Order: sequence, then C-alpha cells, then structure tokens
Amino acid sequence: MFELARRIKSLPPYLFADIDRRKAEAEARGVDVIDLGVGDPVEPTPKHVIERLCEAAHDPANHRYPSYTGSMDFREAVARWYKRKAEVKLDPKTQVLTLIGAKEGLAHLPWAFVNPGDLVLVPDPGYPVYRNATVMAEGVPFSVPLLEERGFLPDLSTIPERVARQAKLFFLTFPSNPTRAVATEGFFAEVVEFARTYGLIVVQDAAYSEITYDGFVHPSFLKVPGALDVGIEVHSLSKTYNMTGWRIGWAAGNEEILEGLGKVKTNVDSGAFQAVQFAGIAALDGPQEPVERQKAIYQERRDIVVEGLGDMGLRVFPPKAGCYVWCRVPEGYTSEGFVGKLIEEAGVVTTPGVGFGEHGEGYFRISLTVPTGRLREAVERMKGLKF
Ligand SMILES: Cc1ncc(COP(=O)(O)O)c(C=O)c1O
Repeated sequence: MFELARRIKSLPPYLFADIDRRKAEAEARGVDVIDLGVGDPVEPTPKHVIERLCEAAHDPANHRYPSYTGSMDFREAVARWYKRKAEVKLDPKTQVLTLIGAKEGLAHLPWAFVNPGDLVLVPDPGYPVYRNATVMAEGVPFSVPLLEERGFLPDLSTIPERVARQAKLFFLTFPSNPTRAVATEGFFAEVVEFARTYGLIVVQDAAYSEITYDGFVHPSFLKVPGALDVGIEVHSLSKTYNMTGWRIGWAAGNEEILEGLGKVKTNVDSGAFQAVQFAGIAALDGPQEPVERQKAIYQERRDIVVEGLGDMGLRVFPPKAGCYVWCRVPEGYTSEGFVGKLIEEAGVVTTPGVGFGEHGEGYFRISLTVPTGRLREAVERMKGLKF
C-alpha cells in the first residue's frame, strides 16, 4: 500500500536471506547450528569500562542531550590515543568527532559529500555499508576489486581516470573485512597521492586495526604525510573492547570533512550517550591487558581454523589482523553453494564471499567471535565433509 522511496528500492537485495532461511530450517530440524557468520565478540566488555558506565549513568548531568560532535573529554581521549599509538597530533576540537559507532559515521558520510549521480569508490569485496550508504544518497558505487593476486590490495592504476575524476569518496578498510588484508604505509602514501591528483576524499575504516596477531602493528592512515589534507580515519571501540552493543566510535582527520559529517549529524542524531563516552574514555585511557587477552584468544582460534581448513585441503588466508579468516571454496562450488553445503551437512554457518561484492565470489568468511570450544567443534564437523 505504501510505496518505498526509490533510494530504498534501489538497494541491492539482501544476499544473506537464503543463508538465514537455511539456518532456520536446520534449526527447525533440531540441528545444533554453530554460527560463524557475524563478527560480534562473545566475551564481555572489560569490567572497569562497565563500572565507569554505571558511575556515569548515575550522574544527572549525563542524562541530558549530548553534543552531536561528542564530549570534549572523549575527543581529547581519542587525540591522546593517536599520540600514543601513532605519534599523530590531532586537535580534538576540529579533528575528532564522536560517532554512535563507526557504522553511523560511514553511513552518513555520503549524505555530506555525494550528489545524485556522483561516483563513490568502494572496495569489492567490502563491508556492505559503503555501497548501500552511497545508494541511499543517490550516488553510484564503483567497485574497486580486491584480488587475491594483489594480496587483496586495490590496484589504483586500474581505476579509470574518468572514474577517479568523477568520484567524491574513496572507502578503504584496513585491516580488511572480509579479506583480512592489511595495509602498509607505502600503500597509504599511494592513496594520498591518488586522492590529491583527483580531489577525492579518503575514508579509511580502521575498525579492526587493534586486533592484531604475532606482534603485528597496523599503520594509521593519519600518520602518512598529507593524509590529513585528504581524508579521515573512522574507528570503533566495538571490536577492540568488546563493545559492539554500546555504539561508540569516532572519525578523525581532516576538519572540513568532519565538519560536513557533523552537519549531517546535527540533523539526524543528537550524539552518543555521555555516560557511554565516559566509559569509552576508560577503555582508551585505562589498562590495555583485556585487549591483549582478547587478542590471544583470537590468535588461538585463528590457528585452529587455519590449521583445520588447511587439513581439509582448502586455500586459506591466515590473518595478521582482524577477527575473520578468509578462505577459498573448493573447486566446482560457488561461495553460496559451499556455504549452503556447510549448513546442510555440518550445521555450520559461514558467510559467502559474494555477499561482500561480486569479487568475493569463490571465497567464504569465518568469524572468530565464537567460543573456542564451539569453533573447534565446527572445524571438526567441517573436516568430516566430502567435496
Ligand atoms: C569494516 C567494518 N566497519 C565498521 C563496522 C561497524 O562498527 P561499529 O560497531 O563501530 O558500528 C563493522 C562491523 O562489523 C565492520 O566490519
């Protein structure tokens, strides 16, 4: 009876609908399904962060509308974090903006900078929000392929000049969801040069940058000379501190870009709950042992999956960072076909690569955010399959 707006009707179909249906059918048959689909940590938020929230929630000063740009205290904590982590100096007033989770900022950015018909460069395979937010702003996503032969890094030289000139935004995710690829400062420097040449805004989504293995440290885009002139880094407390439900993150970098995003935010939200921002400060400034413990848990799970899938004869890509393992499906299967088989025959849900874009075809993704025992069981079940 009520017709949806064009921008909603033109969103790509929900590619996981079939997987969800198969999962529900398996559960209805009484199968004990192990879901390795979503990236949502099962371990709790660190105790000192919860305690800070409780304390801040009792203060009536925090019950009022927050500032849409975020409290200065939180933004100062973010600036301290960049100084500590990457020796990057930011002005918390103009170069940091609090977000209600990274997704909120990523989804609102095209509203600030994309006119109907403008191109937006999106990684393929990539986090679907970049593409869908572009469509909702009536922009046109242009897929930048992330190919195995290039270590899943974009090849900037293959982006047609005409496209680069017409594009407004360039979304990047490093460490990558889903390919688990990591960036180097050299690659970021190329991106800065590319963005300068074509007048593009770079948006580097660093949601997974702190979940690293074997002592690896992921570079910050903002550290690269010239990055502050062309882009921002979007960040999140969700994965680092097991805070997905809390909805807190930030955007940092170029002040003009943040001002544009801030203009959208003044009109659509009223900022993150102040008590959550205080808890966020406790997370950023407080003891980091819980992060180290969580990383060790993921590293053990990573090794279980990498070894198990390797034993199955699959081509698996061990992550240096992030909480996913990316893997090729066996010869003769599509990604949805193989993922369907895993549900039907092993009761294990994974994510088909094609759900992240056409260049994700031929791969599937496993999330490490499930209890280790369940993950081990899932791998054992998968090893029993014939294909
Ligand atoms: C690449 C990427 N960016 C951002 C997010 C969302 O982060 P947040 O919980 O801060 O909104 C996710 C969540 O899975 C993600 O995979």
